[in-house]
Formats: sequence, C-alpha cells, structure tokens
Amino acid sequence: MTQTPAGSVLQVFVTETYRIDLADTSADPLLTRLTAACHRVAAEDKAGQAWSKAKTYQGYTSYGSILDLTVIDPAFGELKALIETQSLIYARLLELDLQGKVPKLYNMWINVLDPGGGHTGHNHPLNAFSGTIYLETPPGSGDLDLEDPRQPLLMHAPPRQAKAEPFRRTFISVTPQRGTLVLWESWLRHQVGINTGNGKRLSISFNLDM
Ligand SMILES: [Fe+2]
Repeated sequence: MTQTPAGSVLQVFVTETYRIDLADTSADPLLTRLTAACHRVAAEDKAGQAWSKAKTYQGYTSYGSILDLTVIDPAFGELKALIETQSLIYARLLELDLQGKVPKLYNMWINVLDPGGGHTGHNHPLNAFSGTIYLETPPGSGDLDLEDPRQPLLMHAPPRQAKAEPFRRTFISVTPQRGTLVLWESWLRHQVGINTGNGKRLSISFNLDM
C-alpha cells in the first residue's frame, strides 16, 4: 500500500489580541489611584446608579452618565495616555498601516459588576480598538470570553475537540488579574462571564479610533 505523504498546516487570517499585566510595574501606583477614584465615582454618580438600575445592569456602570472621566480625576487622564501608548504598540505588532495616525481614546467607562452579573456577546461598532483594564478581580468574578469571528460562517464545519489547541477553539477565556489590560480590534465579539464569586469585579472599558 502506498504511503500518503503528510502536508503541513498553513495558518491564515489569525485573530490577534493583546495583553499586558501592570501590577507590580511602574504603573502599580496608578492602579491604586484608579481603584479609589472608581469607587468614589460609583458612590457619588446618582445618574449612573439610576441608569444602571433602569438597564438592569447588575452593579454600577458610568457608561450612560459620564462622557469624560478624565475631567473628574487626573488618574483617568493618566490611564488614557497609558492606553493610547499600549494601543500603538499593539497596532505595530499587528503590522497595521495607520497612515501616520495614532489611536486616540474616545470614551471609557467604569464597570462594577455584582455577583450574578455578566454581559452577553457583543462588539463595539464604529471603533478601531477596544479593551478593558481590570482593577479588582475577586475569585470567580468572571472571565473575558473572546469569540471566533467566523462563528456565523461555520455551517457544516465540525466542532473543535474539547482539548484542541487554544488558538483553534471557538471561545477563548481570558482570566484577568488586578492590573491586566486586554486590547482587541473592535469588531471582535466578546462576552463577560457571569460573576459566580462573592465579590464585585471592578474594571474600566474603553474605545479608541484613528
Ligand atoms: Fe465589550
């Protein structure tokens, strides 16, 4: 019987996200100041509390009430600069042609996610890059789940093996720590896993465009 030769896999259309962990780096004091500022805003922002309740958000978000966090506390301005720097690094790693422009942060919002809370699959239309920085991540407070963007096209494609290499799976879970910053291109669908722990998860999400 003739032996059939084996070919090799040609990887194409890779989805690349970005992670940096900022705890115990020179940015650690900023994480501490951001945490305090977020808790102060969450306690004082009555409009945001009402908006969160009206939208049945389980916890508090400033998404519907505060357009520009940078005017509220300088820590948010420092975070904006940090995110813009990291986004440029990410864009260069992806070999994107920015045509001389640099990513600019246009909005960011605080998320205090109560136990039992989560956020179903979505993307962030009309932006180039999106991401989240995590400030408090008690045990079980939920992963960031990234979804294969080819999902709607898979049709008769066989499912992946349960123990397939992570980059071949349909969902990738990122377990954040205090200080984890994750960036992705804004078209990438993602969801926030249910907070099954006992503590609140604190994060700041944001969008950038060119
Ligand atoms: Fe999101």
